[in-house]
Amino acid sequence: MSEKLIIGMFGFGVVGQGLYDIIKTKDLNLEIKKFVIKNPEKKRTLPAELFTTDPEAVLSDPEINTVVELIDNADVAFEITKRALQSGKNVVSANKKMIATHLEELTNIQQEYGTSLLYEGAVCGSIPIIRNLEEYYDNELLHSISGIFNGSSNYILSKIFNEDQSYDNALRKAQELGFAETDPTLDVGGYDPKYKLAIVASHAYGIYVNPDEILNLGINTLDNQDIRFAKEKGFKIKLLPLAKETSDKQVVLYVLPKFLRSDNILYNVENENNGVLVKAAFADEQFFYGKGAGGHPTGSAVLSDIAALRYGYRYEYKKHIDASQIRYTTDYELSVYLRYANDSILEQIEFLSISERFYGENFKYVIGKINLNEIISKRELINQSGNFMAEIL
Ligand code: HSE
Repeated sequence: MSEKLIIGMFGFGVVGQGLYDIIKTKDLNLEIKKFVIKNPEKKRTLPAELFTTDPEAVLSDPEINTVVELIDNADVAFEITKRALQSGKNVVSANKKMIATHLEELTNIQQEYGTSLLYEGAVCGSIPIIRNLEEYYDNELLHSISGIFNGSSNYILSKIFNEDQSYDNALRKAQELGFAETDPTLDVGGYDPKYKLAIVASHAYGIYVNPDEILNLGINTLDNQDIRFAKEKGFKIKLLPLAKETSDKQVVLYVLPKFLRSDNILYNVENENNGVLVKAAFADEQFFYGKGAGGHPTGSAVLSDIAALRYGYRYEYKKHIDASQIRYTTDYELSVYLRYANDSILEQIEFLSISERFYGENFKYVIGKINLNEIISKRELINQSGNFMAEIL
């Protein structure tokens, strides 16, 4: 029988509660000894003696061999995770920002201290993409990985496109349902899917890319003109991260809204569901679909990691072993739609070519080819209210 896991858990929010609900239903030879929480005043569903605000109650307890880290603050989460791994405790985390930002250091710490950090719950909720990239696609040549990696923005877009709800209403609903981040700009601005993309890219291509170097544009400047434009052409708008090997040994990564045709497999991924589309040289196209946010779906991924620790599972970061030649690139040409408010923007942004232009009193756009580097260097301008950019086929 495997070693009993004695768990110290940081955070008891939506995912923590979801995980706890699932754990209760099973006899898994594990015990949650302490919960470290921020707010001692908040009413809890468990006995008060299980809760503490002192991290040392977990980090300095030699009996606790497993830390489950489910807090919001990425900096605090990093300190907890680092300390735990360095003191011989294995860690399960769902903190995508923390993992994406510190992945290289965390990989080194695991190697140095012989401990394991698992984070399936950090990427696309219930979809087991990290373990598949590690274990199943380890010998595959991956052409690209894309999909819907953020439940909240997808929920908002579904409500706008299918039910004519307003953006603000739909965002509020996503918050009430516990899908959104505490700061929802992370969702609608494309930061959250960017962190997930950086993690995916590491397991798919063996590269570490600082998320600050990856372009993310979001849906926060979307307006009725864009929605009407999309509907007239039979498109839906989805917020999509992309990791793609462009030419030999170069990988491009970015997050942009995209107009999708109805024959795209992601077109029908609605609400808080996520979808991961893997295009591979030998396996060809494969599609993973499931709930990407919410307490129980994410809790199920966290539980799967906890259970995997019972048999000593650790990521081997297999793609890193022969990845020394792979480089991250931002030199990539793509077609975009740009709705703009102020004519001067077209003098400031350099398109490689323009294939369509519309100039109305209240609605102006261009469709053209542009280099990703140009979008990156003009991102603040593009992000100003009155403008909206999306990739187009
Ligand atoms: N805010 C995230 C989302 C939660 O909406 O997808 C899951 O990572």
